[in-house]
Amino acid sequence: MKPLIAGNWKMHLNRADAAALAGELVRSLPAPLEYADVALFPPFPYIADVLGAVADSDIEVGAQNMHEADRGAFTGEVSGPMLLDVGATRVLVGHSERRHVFGESDGATNQKIKAALGHDIAPTLCVGEQLEEREAGQTEAVVERQLRAGLDGVSAERANTVTVAYEPVWAIGTGLTASPEQAGEVHAFIRGLLIDIWGDAGARVRILYGGSVKPANASALLKTPEIGGVLVGGASLTTNLFLPIIRAAE
Ligand code: 13P
Repeated sequence: MKPLIAGNWKMHLNRADAAALAGELVRSLPAPLEYADVALFPPFPYIADVLGAVADSDIEVGAQNMHEADRGAFTGEVSGPMLLDVGATRVLVGHSERRHVFGESDGATNQKIKAALGHDIAPTLCVGEQLEEREAGQTEAVVERQLRAGLDGVSAERANTVTVAYEPVWAIGTGLTASPEQAGEVHAFIRGLLIDIWGDAGARVRILYGGSVKPANASALLKTPEIGGVLVGGASLTTNLFLPIIRAAE
């Protein structure tokens, strides 16, 4: 399977810059793009503009979060049907900022994963340990808990719609990247868990790495066994950083 190079724009850019960045990516990349899949995760208000900008390309567009209910009195939230309505086909679930800044629980990530799959929106379940947890030797326990809880009750038939992203919290936005060896160890552990949960179907799920991915480290990370792509924050906000990361997959 091709590696997936994903850009999580978080709460950055404005409407014009979001559309311009997406348009510049389309113009700079060959079509069809043989060596990678590319997905962009803009802020909610810009999803439609970005979809317009990538309309004639293979670039996919998703949301950074969604609510598990289809509708209701949930001020400030956005539902799966609303995402589908504007054309988003992917969603990030349980990003570390959702977990640690907004207090999202493992149970909530599970409901969101199930709701996304129910709407045929492809979820990316994000997992990863905090620095204290790594230092206390709890990395595998934390990742296992987040993964098993997030995927609880999801059948092997749906495995091909799910992506997992390993994002060690200490590497996000800090400039500290997990070395390919450190990332590879956790990715291999996640692969074992996915096979334990889903059997053969678990062997085919893409596992992305995220956390200070830059042009300088992308190629080594992408060559590491079990790293099936990257989820890029800061370096996805400009073409001069994001394009070399996409091209590192070649
Ligand atoms: P940075 O690439 O800015 O460290 O962010 C990683 C991330 O959180 C992607 O979801």
